[in-house]
Amino acid sequence: MRLAGKRVVITGGNRGIGRAITERFAQEGASIALLARRDISPFIEHLTAQGCSAIAIQTEITDYASVKKAIDHIAALWGGLDILVNNAATISREGVLEMSLETWHSVMDVNVNAAFYCSKAVIPFLTNQKSGTILNISSVAAKCGDITAAPVYGTSKGALTTLTRSLARQLAPYQIRVNAIAPHAIVTEMSNQWSDEKRRQVVGAIPLGRMGTVEEVASAALFLASDEASFITGETLNINGGYLMD
Ligand SMILES: NC(=O)c1ccc[n+]([C@@H]2O[C@H](COP(=O)([O-])OP(=O)(O)OC[C@H]3O[C@@H](n4cnc5c(N)ncnc54)[C@H](O)[C@@H]3O)[C@@H](O)[C@H]2O)c1
Repeated sequence: MRLAGKRVVITGGNRGIGRAITERFAQEGASIALLARRDISPFIEHLTAQGCSAIAIQTEITDYASVKKAIDHIAALWGGLDILVNNAATISREGVLEMSLETWHSVMDVNVNAAFYCSKAVIPFLTNQKSGTILNISSVAAKCGDITAAPVYGTSKGALTTLTRSLARQLAPYQIRVNAIAPHAIVTEMSNQWSDEKRRQVVGAIPLGRMGTVEEVASAALFLASDEASFITGETLNINGGYLMD
């Protein structure tokens, strides 16, 4: 098992890409703590029935005090932490002319500030043990922008990619790796919001000619979080069927 004994914190791990990462990491022997907005006990029961040590902590990830309390609690329970996956995100479809300032701040709060808050709360445990890894789920929108999402979405993901690189540099002396994944066109509730026309356009521009699956993203997440990626840090890995090759 590639994550045996690893203690993992995941945000937004109860659905979509986050759920697939949670399930895959659990199968590989990790203990899982999910920071969730609401009660997700049926999913926790599902994980524990498979032999995984899993807990959910109700947390407001856009509030640093709430995040710190949750992370300190998990670290005390498990005697430390090894892996953080900043996966939770929100999106807006408003164009730049209609988009309110409230939308701007709420998307930045979830997609950037919460990832920073979780990282800030987790890092002391990783630096103490001089090991660990952080994985941020960014997006192709960080690199290309997006014509159907509000400009704040790509901006937030660009910030996450830069946060990845900055933390990778600052934490490298502690042997802590920080990487990101930039998915595109993965079948989840987020992409289910697309019109048929948008889906046709998107798939038409993907050399592999199809949408991606959450399991394909989870496989890449597992690689980057595992010791197999021990010399990789500051990287943002494309998972996009060849849509963007950079
Ligand atoms: N699906 C795609 O094609 C695609 C493409 C590029 C990037 N991504 C990224 O992948 C990640 C997962 O997206 P997904 O497609 O599974 O989307 P999703 O909407 O299915 O899941 C998003 C998760 O984030 C959580 N979340 C949202 N707002 C939150 C908040 N305020 N507090 C706590 N949790 C919150 C949700 O509960 C959910 O678990 C996101 O970071 C997203 O930006 C997805």
